[in-house]
Amino acid sequence: MVGGILEATEQRAGTNGHGPVTNGDAAGLRQAARDHVWVHTVPWGDVSAEPGLHIFDRGEGSTLWDVEGREYIDGLAGLWVVNAGHGRAEIAEAMGTQAARLAYASSASFTTGPAIRLADRLAELTPGDLNRVFFCSGGSEAVETAIKIAKQVQAMRGFPRRYKIIARRGSYHGMTYGAMSLTAMRNEAWFGPFMYGVSHVSHPNRYRSDFGVEGEQADVMAARAVEQEIESQGPETVAAVIGEPISSAAGLHVPSPVYWTMLREICDRHGVLLIADEVINGFGRTGKLFATEHFGFVPDIMTMAKGLSSGYAPIAAAVVRDEVFEIFKEQGTVAMGHLLTFGGHAAAAAAALANIEIMEREGLAQQSAEKGAYLKARLEELRAHPSVGDVRGLGLYCALDLVANKETRAKLGKDSGFAKRLNALVLERGLVTRVWDVMHFAPPLVISKPEIDRMVTIADEALTIAEREHGSEIAG
Ligand SMILES: Cc1ncc(COP(=O)(O)O)c(C=O)c1O
Repeated sequence: MVGGILEATEQRAGTNGHGPVTNGDAAGLRQAARDHVWVHTVPWGDVSAEPGLHIFDRGEGSTLWDVEGREYIDGLAGLWVVNAGHGRAEIAEAMGTQAARLAYASSASFTTGPAIRLADRLAELTPGDLNRVFFCSGGSEAVETAIKIAKQVQAMRGFPRRYKIIARRGSYHGMTYGAMSLTAMRNEAWFGPFMYGVSHVSHPNRYRSDFGVEGEQADVMAARAVEQEIESQGPETVAAVIGEPISSAAGLHVPSPVYWTMLREICDRHGVLLIADEVINGFGRTGKLFATEHFGFVPDIMTMAKGLSSGYAPIAAAVVRDEVFEIFKEQGTVAMGHLLTFGGHAAAAAAALANIEIMEREGLAQQSAEKGAYLKARLEELRAHPSVGDVRGLGLYCALDLVANKETRAKLGKDSGFAKRLNALVLERGLVTRVWDVMHFAPPLVISKPEIDRMVTIADEALTIAEREHGSEIAG
Protein backbone atom coordinates (compact mmCIF):
# COMPACT_ATOMS: atom_id res chain seq x y z
CA MET A 1 0.00 0.00 0.00
CA VAL A 2 1.41 3.41 -0.94
CA GLY A 3 0.62 6.45 1.15
CA GLY A 4 -0.50 4.68 4.34
CA ILE A 5 -3.66 5.20 6.29
CA LEU A 6 -4.45 8.73 5.05
CA GLU A 7 -4.46 7.72 1.41
CA ALA A 8 -6.39 4.54 2.13
CA THR A 9 -9.01 6.63 3.91
CA GLU A 10 -9.25 9.06 1.02
CA GLN A 11 -9.55 6.23 -1.46
CA ARG A 12 -12.29 4.71 0.66
CA ALA A 13 -14.16 8.00 0.84
CA GLY A 14 -13.78 8.28 -2.93
CA THR A 15 -15.04 4.81 -3.68
CA ASN A 16 -17.88 4.72 -1.21
CA GLY A 17 -18.97 8.27 -0.92
CA HIS A 18 -18.36 8.30 2.82
CA GLY A 19 -15.41 8.42 5.16
CA PRO A 20 -14.39 5.83 7.72
CA VAL A 21 -17.37 4.89 9.84
CA THR A 22 -17.25 5.01 13.63
CA ASN A 23 -19.02 2.75 16.07
CA GLY A 24 -21.26 5.63 17.09
CA ASP A 25 -22.57 6.09 13.55
CA ALA A 26 -25.33 3.49 13.21
CA ALA A 27 -26.54 4.58 9.77
CA GLY A 28 -22.99 4.75 8.42
CA LEU A 29 -22.22 1.29 9.79
CA ARG A 30 -25.36 -0.14 8.20
CA GLN A 31 -24.45 1.36 4.84
CA ALA A 32 -20.81 0.21 5.05
CA ALA A 33 -22.01 -3.28 6.00
CA ARG A 34 -24.31 -3.31 2.97
CA ASP A 35 -21.43 -2.19 0.79
CA HIS A 36 -18.70 -4.48 2.05
CA VAL A 37 -19.61 -7.20 4.53
CA TRP A 38 -20.60 -10.59 3.22
CA VAL A 39 -22.85 -11.65 6.06
CA HIS A 40 -23.04 -15.41 6.50
CA THR A 41 -26.28 -17.24 5.62
CA VAL A 42 -28.32 -14.10 4.83
CA PRO A 43 -29.64 -13.64 1.28
CA TRP A 44 -28.91 -10.24 -0.27
CA GLY A 45 -32.62 -9.37 -0.32
CA ASP A 46 -32.72 -9.50 3.49
CA VAL A 47 -29.51 -7.47 3.88
CA SER A 48 -30.63 -4.78 1.47
CA ALA A 49 -34.24 -4.49 2.68
CA GLU A 50 -35.26 -2.24 5.60
CA PRO A 51 -34.63 -2.51 8.52
CA GLY A 52 -31.78 -4.72 7.28
CA LEU A 53 -29.00 -5.91 9.49
CA HIS A 54 -28.91 -5.94 13.24
CA ILE A 55 -25.49 -4.70 14.27
CA PHE A 56 -24.45 -5.54 17.80
CA ASP A 57 -22.25 -3.25 19.80
CA ARG A 58 -21.75 -4.62 23.30
CA GLY A 59 -22.79 -7.31 25.72
CA GLU A 60 -22.98 -8.06 29.42
CA GLY A 61 -24.00 -11.43 30.85
CA SER A 62 -26.97 -12.56 28.75
CA THR A 63 -27.74 -9.12 27.38
CA LEU A 64 -26.77 -7.63 24.02
CA TRP A 65 -27.11 -4.03 22.85
CA ASP A 66 -27.20 -3.06 19.20
CA VAL A 67 -25.66 0.09 17.75
CA GLU A 68 -28.97 1.93 18.16
CA GLY A 69 -28.93 1.09 21.87
CA ARG A 70 -31.74 -1.48 21.76
CA GLU A 71 -31.46 -4.27 24.33
CA TYR A 72 -31.87 -7.98 23.64
CA ILE A 73 -31.62 -11.26 25.52
CA ASP A 74 -29.05 -13.38 23.73
CA GLY A 75 -31.23 -16.49 23.59
CA LEU A 76 -28.71 -18.45 21.51
CA ALA A 77 -25.50 -17.34 23.26
CA GLY A 78 -24.33 -16.05 19.89
CA LEU A 79 -24.41 -19.37 18.06
CA TRP A 80 -24.28 -21.66 21.14
CA VAL A 81 -20.93 -20.03 21.89
CA VAL A 82 -20.88 -17.49 24.73
CA ASN A 83 -21.39 -19.96 27.57
CA ALA A 84 -19.58 -17.84 30.20
CA GLY A 85 -21.60 -14.77 29.19
CA HIS A 86 -20.66 -11.48 27.57
CA GLY A 87 -18.37 -8.83 29.03
CA ARG A 88 -15.90 -11.02 30.91
CA ALA A 89 -13.03 -8.59 31.44
CA GLU A 90 -11.06 -11.40 33.09
CA ILE A 91 -10.86 -13.31 29.79
CA ALA A 92 -10.04 -10.16 27.85
CA GLU A 93 -7.23 -9.37 30.30
CA ALA A 94 -5.78 -12.89 30.07
CA MET A 95 -5.75 -12.62 26.28
CA GLY A 96 -4.27 -9.12 26.35
CA THR A 97 -1.50 -10.10 28.76
CA GLN A 98 -0.59 -13.12 26.65
CA ALA A 99 -0.80 -11.15 23.38
CA ALA A 100 1.55 -8.51 24.78
CA ARG A 101 4.01 -11.21 25.85
CA LEU A 102 3.68 -13.50 22.80
CA ALA A 103 0.51 -13.62 20.69
CA TYR A 104 1.69 -16.20 18.23
CA ALA A 105 4.50 -18.59 17.48
CA SER A 106 4.68 -21.06 14.60
CA SER A 107 2.38 -24.04 15.03
CA ALA A 108 4.58 -26.07 12.66
CA SER A 109 7.11 -27.89 14.83
CA PHE A 110 6.68 -25.54 17.82
CA THR A 111 4.21 -24.77 20.60
CA THR A 112 3.77 -22.33 23.47
CA GLY A 113 3.12 -22.36 27.21
CA PRO A 114 -0.61 -21.47 27.00
CA ALA A 115 -1.23 -24.19 24.38
CA ILE A 116 0.52 -26.77 26.57
CA ARG A 117 -1.36 -25.70 29.70
CA LEU A 118 -4.66 -25.79 27.82
CA ALA A 119 -3.97 -29.27 26.40
CA ASP A 120 -3.11 -30.42 29.92
CA ARG A 121 -6.40 -29.01 31.31
CA LEU A 122 -8.42 -30.58 28.49
CA ALA A 123 -6.81 -33.98 29.05
CA GLU A 124 -7.84 -33.66 32.71
CA LEU A 125 -11.41 -32.51 31.99
CA THR A 126 -12.42 -34.78 29.10
CA PRO A 127 -13.67 -38.26 29.94
CA GLY A 128 -11.55 -41.44 29.91
CA ASP A 129 -8.21 -41.44 28.14
CA LEU A 130 -8.94 -38.54 25.76
CA ASN A 131 -5.48 -37.17 26.37
CA ARG A 132 -4.00 -35.90 23.11
CA VAL A 133 -5.08 -32.50 21.80
CA PHE A 134 -4.78 -31.19 18.22
CA PHE A 135 -5.65 -27.48 18.21
CA CYS A 136 -7.55 -25.69 15.44
CA SER A 137 -9.42 -22.39 15.06
CA GLY A 138 -13.09 -23.37 14.63
CA GLY A 139 -15.57 -26.23 14.66
CA SER A 140 -15.34 -27.07 10.97
CA GLU A 141 -11.57 -27.35 11.26
CA ALA A 142 -11.98 -29.57 14.31
CA VAL A 143 -14.26 -31.87 12.29
CA GLU A 144 -11.87 -31.83 9.30
CA THR A 145 -9.09 -32.73 11.72
CA ALA A 146 -11.10 -35.58 13.25
CA ILE A 147 -11.89 -37.20 9.92
CA LYS A 148 -8.30 -36.85 8.75
CA ILE A 149 -7.03 -38.38 12.00
CA ALA A 150 -9.50 -41.27 11.61
CA LYS A 151 -8.37 -41.95 8.04
CA GLN A 152 -4.63 -41.66 8.72
CA VAL A 153 -4.82 -43.77 11.88
CA GLN A 154 -6.75 -46.51 10.06
CA ALA A 155 -4.18 -46.45 7.24
CA MET A 156 -1.22 -46.51 9.66
CA ARG A 157 -2.80 -49.43 11.49
CA GLY A 158 -2.72 -51.35 8.22
CA PHE A 159 -6.22 -50.61 6.90
CA PRO A 160 -5.69 -48.13 4.04
CA ARG A 161 -9.04 -49.08 2.54
CA ARG A 162 -10.91 -47.87 5.60
CA TYR A 163 -11.72 -44.37 4.33
CA LYS A 164 -15.53 -44.13 4.62
CA ILE A 165 -17.29 -41.97 7.18
CA ILE A 166 -20.86 -42.54 8.36
CA ALA A 167 -22.83 -39.50 9.58
CA ARG A 168 -26.49 -38.99 10.51
CA ARG A 169 -29.12 -37.36 8.29
CA GLY A 170 -30.15 -33.92 9.50
CA SER A 171 -26.84 -33.28 11.27
CA TYR A 172 -24.55 -30.28 10.90
CA HIS A 173 -20.79 -30.61 11.22
CA GLY A 174 -19.58 -27.43 9.52
CA MET A 175 -19.14 -25.84 6.13
CA THR A 176 -15.58 -26.51 4.98
CA TYR A 177 -15.51 -29.21 2.33
CA GLY A 178 -14.93 -32.34 4.40
CA ALA A 179 -17.18 -31.16 7.23
CA MET A 180 -19.85 -30.07 4.76
CA SER A 181 -19.75 -33.52 3.18
CA LEU A 182 -20.87 -34.90 6.55
CA THR A 183 -23.44 -32.13 6.98
CA ALA A 184 -26.92 -32.93 5.80
CA MET A 185 -27.67 -29.34 4.72
CA ARG A 186 -25.32 -29.35 1.75
CA ASN A 187 -26.25 -28.06 -1.63
CA GLU A 188 -25.45 -30.68 -4.24
CA ALA A 189 -26.19 -28.37 -7.18
CA TRP A 190 -23.67 -25.74 -6.07
CA PHE A 191 -20.99 -27.75 -4.34
CA GLY A 192 -21.24 -31.38 -5.34
CA PRO A 193 -19.62 -33.80 -5.67
CA PHE A 194 -18.72 -34.04 -2.02
CA MET A 195 -16.02 -36.01 -0.23
CA TYR A 196 -16.08 -39.55 -1.51
CA GLY A 197 -17.16 -42.30 0.87
CA VAL A 198 -19.65 -40.45 3.09
CA SER A 199 -23.03 -41.97 3.83
CA HIS A 200 -25.86 -40.89 6.10
CA VAL A 201 -28.13 -42.94 8.35
CA SER A 202 -31.26 -42.14 10.35
CA HIS A 203 -30.92 -39.96 13.38
CA PRO A 204 -32.16 -41.03 16.84
CA ASN A 205 -35.55 -39.32 17.01
CA ARG A 206 -38.22 -40.49 19.41
CA TYR A 207 -40.71 -37.83 18.33
CA ARG A 208 -40.66 -38.50 14.60
CA SER A 209 -38.84 -41.80 14.21
CA ASP A 210 -37.93 -42.94 10.69
CA PHE A 211 -38.82 -46.41 11.91
CA GLY A 212 -42.41 -45.60 12.94
CA VAL A 213 -41.80 -46.55 16.58
CA GLU A 214 -41.84 -44.54 19.81
CA GLY A 215 -39.64 -44.18 22.88
CA GLU A 216 -36.38 -45.99 23.44
CA GLN A 217 -37.19 -48.43 20.65
CA ALA A 218 -36.68 -45.58 18.15
CA ASP A 219 -33.14 -45.06 19.48
CA VAL A 220 -32.38 -48.79 19.39
CA MET A 221 -33.53 -48.90 15.76
CA ALA A 222 -31.38 -45.84 14.93
CA ALA A 223 -28.31 -47.53 16.49
CA ARG A 224 -29.02 -50.73 14.55
CA ALA A 225 -29.19 -48.63 11.36
CA VAL A 226 -25.58 -47.58 11.97
CA GLU A 227 -24.49 -51.21 12.21
CA GLN A 228 -26.47 -52.11 9.09
CA GLU A 229 -24.74 -49.27 7.23
CA ILE A 230 -21.29 -50.46 8.38
CA GLU A 231 -22.16 -53.97 7.24
CA SER A 232 -23.61 -52.88 3.92
CA GLN A 233 -20.60 -50.62 3.15
CA GLY A 234 -18.26 -53.41 4.26
CA PRO A 235 -16.63 -52.94 7.67
CA GLU A 236 -13.20 -53.20 6.06
CA THR A 237 -13.94 -49.90 4.24
CA VAL A 238 -15.30 -47.81 7.14
CA ALA A 239 -12.98 -45.45 9.04
CA ALA A 240 -15.37 -43.71 11.44
CA VAL A 241 -18.88 -42.85 12.56
CA ILE A 242 -19.56 -39.24 13.60
CA GLY A 243 -22.43 -37.77 15.62
CA GLU A 244 -23.26 -35.07 18.12
CA PRO A 245 -24.12 -36.70 21.47
CA ILE A 246 -27.28 -34.55 21.37
CA SER A 247 -28.21 -33.25 17.94
CA SER A 248 -28.54 -29.54 17.28
CA ALA A 249 -29.43 -29.06 13.62
CA ALA A 250 -31.34 -32.35 13.49
CA GLY A 251 -33.83 -30.88 15.96
CA LEU A 252 -32.38 -31.30 19.42
CA HIS A 253 -33.16 -34.94 20.11
CA VAL A 254 -31.84 -36.31 23.40
CA PRO A 255 -31.30 -40.04 22.83
CA SER A 256 -31.56 -42.72 25.50
CA PRO A 257 -28.15 -43.81 26.87
CA VAL A 258 -28.72 -47.16 25.13
CA TYR A 259 -28.13 -45.46 21.76
CA TRP A 260 -24.58 -44.42 22.60
CA THR A 261 -23.85 -47.66 24.48
CA MET A 262 -24.85 -49.55 21.35
CA LEU A 263 -22.87 -47.26 19.02
CA ARG A 264 -19.73 -47.62 21.13
CA GLU A 265 -20.11 -51.39 21.11
CA ILE A 266 -20.89 -51.55 17.35
CA CYS A 267 -17.87 -49.39 16.44
CA ASP A 268 -15.56 -51.50 18.63
CA ARG A 269 -16.87 -54.72 17.10
CA HIS A 270 -16.18 -53.49 13.57
CA GLY A 271 -12.89 -51.66 14.14
CA VAL A 272 -14.55 -48.31 13.38
CA LEU A 273 -13.54 -45.12 15.22
CA LEU A 274 -16.30 -43.19 16.98
CA ILE A 275 -16.20 -39.38 16.74
CA ALA A 276 -18.33 -37.33 19.17
CA ASP A 277 -18.88 -33.79 17.87
CA GLU A 278 -19.12 -31.65 21.03
CA VAL A 279 -18.72 -28.36 19.17
CA ILE A 280 -22.11 -27.18 20.48
CA ASN A 281 -22.73 -29.75 23.23
CA GLY A 282 -19.49 -29.13 25.10
CA PHE A 283 -18.52 -26.79 27.91
CA GLY A 284 -21.62 -26.99 30.06
CA ARG A 285 -24.27 -26.40 27.44
CA THR A 286 -26.21 -29.58 28.27
CA GLY A 287 -25.72 -29.46 32.06
CA LYS A 288 -22.47 -31.47 32.11
CA LEU A 289 -19.07 -30.27 30.96
CA PHE A 290 -19.33 -32.66 27.99
CA ALA A 291 -22.56 -34.25 26.76
CA THR A 292 -20.89 -37.65 26.40
CA GLU A 293 -20.95 -37.74 30.23
CA HIS A 294 -24.77 -38.06 30.18
CA PHE A 295 -24.40 -41.27 28.21
CA GLY A 296 -21.32 -42.77 29.86
CA PHE A 297 -19.25 -43.43 26.76
CA VAL A 298 -15.79 -42.33 25.69
CA PRO A 299 -15.45 -41.54 21.97
CA ASP A 300 -12.21 -42.22 20.14
CA ILE A 301 -12.09 -38.59 18.99
CA MET A 302 -13.93 -35.61 20.47
CA THR A 303 -14.28 -32.32 18.62
CA MET A 304 -14.78 -29.09 20.54
CA ALA A 305 -14.93 -25.36 19.66
CA LYS A 306 -17.43 -22.57 20.49
CA GLY A 307 -17.74 -22.79 24.33
CA LEU A 308 -14.04 -23.72 24.66
CA SER A 309 -13.32 -19.99 24.81
CA SER A 310 -16.95 -18.82 25.10
CA GLY A 311 -16.26 -16.98 21.85
CA TYR A 312 -13.58 -14.68 23.25
CA ALA A 313 -11.13 -16.13 20.74
CA PRO A 314 -11.47 -18.49 17.79
CA ILE A 315 -10.08 -21.76 19.13
CA ALA A 316 -11.10 -25.39 18.71
CA ALA A 317 -9.65 -28.86 19.12
CA ALA A 318 -9.86 -32.51 18.21
CA VAL A 319 -8.96 -34.61 21.26
CA VAL A 320 -8.06 -38.28 20.82
CA ARG A 321 -7.72 -41.28 23.10
CA ASP A 322 -4.31 -42.65 24.04
CA GLU A 323 -4.96 -45.79 22.02
CA VAL A 324 -5.70 -43.71 18.90
CA PHE A 325 -2.46 -41.75 19.30
CA GLU A 326 -0.51 -44.93 20.08
CA ILE A 327 0.22 -45.65 16.42
CA PHE A 328 2.15 -42.35 16.16
CA LYS A 329 4.34 -43.56 19.03
CA GLU A 330 4.86 -46.93 17.39
CA GLN A 331 5.73 -45.33 14.06
CA GLY A 332 7.80 -42.57 15.56
CA THR A 333 9.01 -41.17 12.23
CA VAL A 334 5.51 -40.45 10.87
CA ALA A 335 3.71 -37.16 11.59
CA MET A 336 0.03 -36.39 11.22
CA GLY A 337 -0.48 -34.95 7.71
CA HIS A 338 -2.17 -31.84 8.95
CA LEU A 339 -1.14 -28.27 9.77
CA LEU A 340 -3.20 -25.22 10.70
CA THR A 341 -1.31 -21.95 11.10
CA PHE A 342 -3.49 -20.77 13.97
CA GLY A 343 -3.73 -24.13 15.76
CA GLY A 344 -2.83 -23.53 19.40
CA HIS A 345 -2.66 -19.72 19.00
CA ALA A 346 -1.15 -18.50 22.28
CA ALA A 347 -3.55 -15.62 23.00
CA ALA A 348 -6.57 -17.79 22.04
CA ALA A 349 -5.32 -20.56 24.33
CA ALA A 350 -4.98 -17.99 27.15
CA ALA A 351 -8.63 -17.00 26.54
CA ALA A 352 -9.74 -20.64 26.71
CA LEU A 353 -7.79 -21.20 29.94
CA ALA A 354 -9.40 -18.15 31.56
CA ASN A 355 -12.83 -19.25 30.31
CA ILE A 356 -12.40 -22.75 31.78
CA GLU A 357 -11.28 -21.26 35.08
CA ILE A 358 -14.50 -19.20 35.23
CA MET A 359 -16.63 -22.22 34.27
CA GLU A 360 -15.14 -24.25 37.11
CA ARG A 361 -15.14 -21.47 39.72
CA GLU A 362 -18.78 -20.56 39.05
CA GLY A 363 -19.96 -24.14 38.45
CA LEU A 364 -21.45 -23.14 35.10
CA ALA A 365 -22.21 -26.71 33.98
CA GLN A 366 -24.18 -27.25 37.20
CA GLN A 367 -25.89 -23.88 36.72
CA SER A 368 -26.83 -24.99 33.22
CA ALA A 369 -28.38 -28.20 34.62
CA GLU A 370 -30.42 -26.34 37.27
CA LYS A 371 -31.52 -23.38 35.17
CA GLY A 372 -32.13 -25.70 32.24
CA ALA A 373 -34.58 -27.74 34.31
CA TYR A 374 -36.38 -24.50 35.18
CA LEU A 375 -36.38 -23.32 31.55
CA LYS A 376 -37.74 -26.66 30.34
CA ALA A 377 -40.53 -26.64 32.94
CA ARG A 378 -41.50 -23.12 31.84
CA LEU A 379 -41.40 -24.11 28.16
CA GLU A 380 -43.73 -27.04 28.92
CA GLU A 381 -46.41 -24.39 29.57
CA LEU A 382 -46.21 -23.47 25.87
CA ARG A 383 -47.45 -26.92 24.82
CA ALA A 384 -50.94 -25.39 24.99
CA HIS A 385 -50.11 -23.59 21.73
CA PRO A 386 -51.45 -25.38 18.63
CA SER A 387 -48.07 -24.91 16.91
CA VAL A 388 -45.97 -26.44 19.72
CA GLY A 389 -45.75 -30.17 19.13
CA ASP A 390 -42.96 -31.04 21.53
CA VAL A 391 -40.62 -29.55 24.12
CA ARG A 392 -37.16 -31.09 24.31
CA GLY A 393 -33.79 -30.39 25.87
CA LEU A 394 -31.18 -30.95 28.52
CA GLY A 395 -29.48 -28.17 30.45
CA LEU A 396 -29.69 -24.73 28.86
CA TYR A 397 -30.13 -26.41 25.52
CA CYS A 398 -33.86 -26.57 24.84
CA ALA A 399 -36.20 -26.30 21.87
CA LEU A 400 -39.86 -26.16 20.88
CA ASP A 401 -40.77 -28.41 17.94
CA LEU A 402 -43.06 -26.31 15.74
CA VAL A 403 -45.77 -28.30 14.00
CA ALA A 404 -48.47 -27.65 11.43
CA ASN A 405 -50.47 -30.50 12.91
CA LYS A 406 -50.09 -31.95 16.40
CA GLU A 407 -51.65 -35.28 15.42
CA THR A 408 -49.49 -35.98 12.39
CA ARG A 409 -46.50 -34.06 13.83
CA ALA A 410 -46.01 -32.47 10.39
CA LYS A 411 -43.28 -29.81 10.62
CA LEU A 412 -43.98 -26.17 9.90
CA GLY A 413 -40.42 -25.88 8.57
CA LYS A 414 -37.91 -23.03 8.54
CA ASP A 415 -39.18 -21.56 5.27
CA SER A 416 -42.80 -21.38 6.43
CA GLY A 417 -44.40 -17.96 6.77
CA PHE A 418 -45.08 -18.91 10.40
CA ALA A 419 -41.42 -19.56 11.28
CA LYS A 420 -40.23 -16.39 9.55
CA ARG A 421 -42.85 -14.27 11.29
CA LEU A 422 -42.09 -15.85 14.66
CA ASN A 423 -38.41 -15.02 14.21
CA ALA A 424 -39.26 -11.38 13.47
CA LEU A 425 -41.73 -11.14 16.35
CA VAL A 426 -39.30 -12.39 19.00
CA LEU A 427 -36.57 -10.09 17.69
CA GLU A 428 -38.91 -7.08 17.83
CA ARG A 429 -39.60 -7.98 21.47
CA GLY A 430 -35.91 -8.20 22.36
CA LEU A 431 -35.08 -11.89 22.08
CA VAL A 432 -32.36 -13.09 19.71
CA THR A 433 -32.69 -16.75 18.85
CA ARG A 434 -33.18 -19.09 15.90
CA VAL A 435 -36.60 -20.20 14.72
CA TRP A 436 -36.31 -22.90 12.09
CA ASP A 437 -38.24 -26.15 12.34
CA VAL A 438 -37.53 -25.88 16.04
CA MET A 439 -37.27 -22.72 18.14
CA HIS A 440 -34.06 -22.76 20.17
CA PHE A 441 -33.45 -21.59 23.74
CA ALA A 442 -29.73 -21.70 24.53
CA PRO A 443 -28.71 -18.53 26.39
CA PRO A 444 -25.40 -17.92 28.16
CA LEU A 445 -25.16 -20.19 31.21
CA VAL A 446 -25.11 -17.12 33.48
CA ILE A 447 -28.69 -16.18 32.58
CA SER A 448 -30.95 -15.28 35.53
CA LYS A 449 -34.38 -16.77 36.25
CA PRO A 450 -36.16 -13.44 35.53
CA GLU A 451 -34.39 -13.41 32.14
CA ILE A 452 -35.54 -16.98 31.51
CA ASP A 453 -39.08 -15.91 32.40
CA ARG A 454 -38.77 -13.00 29.99
CA MET A 455 -37.67 -15.33 27.16
CA VAL A 456 -40.68 -17.57 27.79
CA THR A 457 -43.09 -14.60 27.94
CA ILE A 458 -41.74 -13.25 24.64
CA ALA A 459 -42.04 -16.69 23.03
CA ASP A 460 -45.59 -17.05 24.34
CA GLU A 461 -46.69 -13.64 22.99
CA ALA A 462 -44.98 -14.18 19.65
CA LEU A 463 -46.50 -17.67 19.22
CA THR A 464 -49.96 -16.26 19.91
CA ILE A 465 -49.58 -13.55 17.27
CA ALA A 466 -47.95 -15.84 14.67
CA GLU A 467 -50.66 -18.47 15.18
CA ARG A 468 -53.35 -15.80 14.67
CA GLU A 469 -51.70 -14.34 11.56
CA HIS A 470 -50.70 -17.67 10.01
CA GLY A 471 -53.64 -19.75 11.21
CA SER A 472 -54.08 -21.27 7.75
CA GLU A 473 -50.70 -23.01 8.10
CA ILE A 474 -51.72 -24.73 11.36
CA ALA A 475 -54.35 -27.44 11.89
CA GLY A 476 -56.65 -27.20 14.93
C1 LIG B 1 -22.02 -29.73 15.76
C2 LIG B 1 -21.21 -28.77 14.98
N1 LIG B 1 -20.03 -29.13 14.47
C3 LIG B 1 -19.26 -28.28 13.76
C4 LIG B 1 -19.67 -26.99 13.53
C5 LIG B 1 -18.81 -26.06 12.73
O1 LIG B 1 -18.28 -25.09 13.54
P1 LIG B 1 -17.71 -23.70 12.92
O2 LIG B 1 -18.88 -22.94 12.45
O3 LIG B 1 -17.00 -23.10 14.10
O4 LIG B 1 -16.77 -24.04 11.84
C6 LIG B 1 -20.87 -26.55 14.06
C7 LIG B 1 -21.31 -25.15 13.86
O5 LIG B 1 -22.35 -24.72 14.29
C8 LIG B 1 -21.68 -27.46 14.78
O6 LIG B 1 -22.86 -27.10 15.26
